[in-house]
Amino acid sequence: MSQDSQLTTALAEAAATAGHAPSVHNTQPWRWRVLPDALELRTVADRQLQASDPEGRLLAISCGAALHHARLALAAEGWRAVVRRLPDPGDPSLLARLTDLSQTAADPDAMRMVQCMSVRHTDRRPVSDEPVPTDSIGEIARAVTAEGCRFQVLDRDQVLELAATAGHASAVEAEDPELRAELAYWTSRADTNTGLPPEVLPAEPPQTTVPGRDFGRPGSLPIGPGHDRAAVYALLHGDEDDRDSWLRAGEALSAAWLTATRLGVSVVPLSAVVEIPGTRQALRQVLAGIGFPYLVLRIGIADPAHAGPPHTPRLASEQVVDTSAVRGERA
Ligand SMILES: Cc1cc2nc3c(=O)[nH]c(=O)nc-3n(C[C@H](O)[C@H](O)[C@H](O)COP(=O)(O)O)c2cc1C
Repeated sequence: MSQDSQLTTALAEAAATAGHAPSVHNTQPWRWRVLPDALELRTVADRQLQASDPEGRLLAISCGAALHHARLALAAEGWRAVVRRLPDPGDPSLLARLTDLSQTAADPDAMRMVQCMSVRHTDRRPVSDEPVPTDSIGEIARAVTAEGCRFQVLDRDQVLELAATAGHASAVEAEDPELRAELAYWTSRADTNTGLPPEVLPAEPPQTTVPGRDFGRPGSLPIGPGHDRAAVYALLHGDEDDRDSWLRAGEALSAAWLTATRLGVSVVPLSAVVEIPGTRQALRQVLAGIGFPYLVLRIGIADPAHAGPPHTPRLASEQVVDTSAVRGERA
């Protein structure tokens, strides 16, 4: 295989691997373009949540997670890349370009993280009573800060405030017809390989200190009688509230979640509380001086005794990876 075709094959495979990334409501709002010497990541406007995410914050976080997956996939195959985030101010849909690719030794840590990508999933059942080891929280925190984002574990009082704020966010979302319609749309698209199928949504509201998202309809995922008392709640946050920070928050989310998966720890993002401007502001006040909250994470050890949810489907790679610019060059 020529050097050129090796590179474009690696870029196309990294983009396909990035399809495992988590995204809000499984919208998968990304599109990749393989070029002879670069890989571009773009947003897909019609998979943005217009009602609950008009600024595109959750969209950028989701795309950041996909970007981190692609970076790891390249490193695992022995490719070094320079990442240019938001490289063209005149082209806002272009979120990142991976360029200046050169070959290096395959990175064993990245290889392990790539293995975790197909295992990682969102388990919305209550977590077990087993406490999360302090060392694991430390490793997850370090994974976040290495991506330029901040991570704060909430203390008991802050968790109670979060619970009240999340309850308020749920009530606001339940009363807003546009938000309700948007959620109904993304929870009834099972045949499209986007959105959330009933099998991954709890059959009844789990017993939790902090209410999880109210998806507006019961799913078919059986949940035990447990209460997630042993869950740890943490916040991803930072000093800025712009697209670059949101993209990096997504990269940090991916790093945290894959690290947690490697350590046998379950993560569920809770974003309703940062979608409603009033509850996001309330969260800033609870955590004085944190700057801007990007995402709340529930961290715990999943119930080991019962099977968890199945994997949430993904779009086929042909639907998200455009290789037309290198056709003929790839092996
Ligand atoms: C930015 C972001 C926000 C999310 N918010 C929530 C949420 O509020 N509640 C929830 O249960 N899952 C949330 N998720 C998890 C997604 O629904 C999940 O990643 C997606 O459906 C794909 O499923 P998987 O993680 O099992 O692969 C969020 C994920 C991302 C990336």
